[in-house]
Amino acid sequence: MNANQVLSQFQATGVQTCFHGRHINPQIYAGLNGTNWRLKDYEARQGYQALRRILGAAGGSEGAAMTPDQVIATVKESALRGRGGAGFPTGLKWSFMPRQFPGQKYLVCNSDEGEPGTCKDRDLLQFNPHQVIEGMIIAAYAMGTTVGYNYIHGEIFQTYERFEEALEEARAAGYLGDGILGSGFNFQLHAAHGFGAYICGEETGLLESLEGKKGQPRFKPPFPASYGLYGKPTTINNTETFAAVPWIIRNGGPAFLAVGKPNNGGTKIYSVSGDVELPGNYEVPLGTPFAKLLELAGGVRKGRTLKAVIPGGSSAPVLPADIMMGCTMDYDSIAKAGSMLGSGAVIVMDDTRCMVESLKRLSYFYMHESCGQCTPCREGTGWLWRVVDRIHSGHGKPSDMDLLNSVADNIQGRTICALGDAAAMPVRAMIKHFRPEFEAMIDKARKAAPATPVQA
Ligand SMILES: Cc1cc2nc3c(=O)[nH]c(=O)nc-3n(C[C@H](O)[C@H](O)[C@H](O)COP(=O)(O)O)c2cc1C
Ligand code: SF4
Repeated sequence: MNANQVLSQFQATGVQTCFHGRHINPQIYAGLNGTNWRLKDYEARQGYQALRRILGAAGGSEGAAMTPDQVIATVKESALRGRGGAGFPTGLKWSFMPRQFPGQKYLVCNSDEGEPGTCKDRDLLQFNPHQVIEGMIIAAYAMGTTVGYNYIHGEIFQTYERFEEALEEARAAGYLGDGILGSGFNFQLHAAHGFGAYICGEETGLLESLEGKKGQPRFKPPFPASYGLYGKPTTINNTETFAAVPWIIRNGGPAFLAVGKPNNGGTKIYSVSGDVELPGNYEVPLGTPFAKLLELAGGVRKGRTLKAVIPGGSSAPVLPADIMMGCTMDYDSIAKAGSMLGSGAVIVMDDTRCMVESLKRLSYFYMHESCGQCTPCREGTGWLWRVVDRIHSGHGKPSDMDLLNSVADNIQGRTICALGDAAAMPVRAMIKHFRPEFEAMIDKARKAAPATPVQA
């Protein structure tokens, strides 16, 4: 579809962000059109064949049944990395589950998706729910878990209902429940409604919330693999991580790895937003140049130039245009450039953007979303916002730059969960790359008000 067609489709529907046909080698969006989400449609796209394959059930793709160890080895070989933020190797995480633990073990899907800029998991659940369900069943088989939950963001009721409907279809077809496809494997999967707080996406905050408590993160260790839901061994993965699994089982780990680049297997869905012509979700192989992704999204708004990009959701440090244009979109390249691929939410900023105002907006978000358990985060996020706010409102002091860095220093690495780091890192990056903009605003304010000089 060309850019004009995509634009008129956006204008006609007002909502569609992923049916633009501008993906590259899609594995998750392949064949989707917005209406073909039902079980019969998914089966027509080779759906549940990977599950049949591992269970040795009739109708599966070629090959003998696979043992749980073989499934984990295949996922390790694929170099699939968690799509929720940290990019942790999925096969390795699965191998941490103590499979011989005699009591209940749990599998949890993180569909909380609260990271500003990220809007991929809701589309996945809405338009391809069975791929997530199949991925979860395969994961449950690999780790010997018999009960699972999908914790779905609290404000997307339609998506929650869609997922419930898909679960019903899967149960009725014998893909979920007891004795799946005539095997001895049982797996009960439930949808759980989230509570609409960003912190409920942090894995241990999510577990607390799932248990019916306040979504406040737990101190780690112990990690969820040994002490998770209700204190039992638990594995948590992101929605997109699970959705990648059926393709890996059908095509093999090396094929998935070959789609991406070493240590970064497969495709990734990027939610491209901000100052681009065609904002939306784009699925492309890991390792695709940023310049190509930007081109798919229609480029920077007409008449404007690229100023900066937040490459992985609001927690990821901002990068200036010249650095970003030299990056490929994968975990290692973005980390080397000084940021994070995170959830893959690519926030594009053009030359009209004021970095002080942008940081003020980000800092307000983290202050608002801090759960308040740790003093550095509870107090520090408020400090960050207040200092940036006073710079922005024309009352900044020259010493504010050092003060911001010092407050960020006192938050980063000193909190129970990574929300503290997520609040501190954008501040440090904004100052590192755009310090003159902050200083100019402070200077302008001082010159504009000579009668009431601000003390340094
Ligand atoms: C404040 C905070 C919010 C998070 N929100 C999400 C989220 O909405 N979805 C998600 O998958 N991971 C989120 N994460 C990361 C999870 O803690 C966890 O690492 C992830 O779900 C693991 O899945 P993965 O290995 O498949 O990436 C968040 C982390 C933090 C610190
Ligand atoms: S870092 Fe912030 S959000 Fe995380 S536990 Fe501490 S106070 Fe709560």
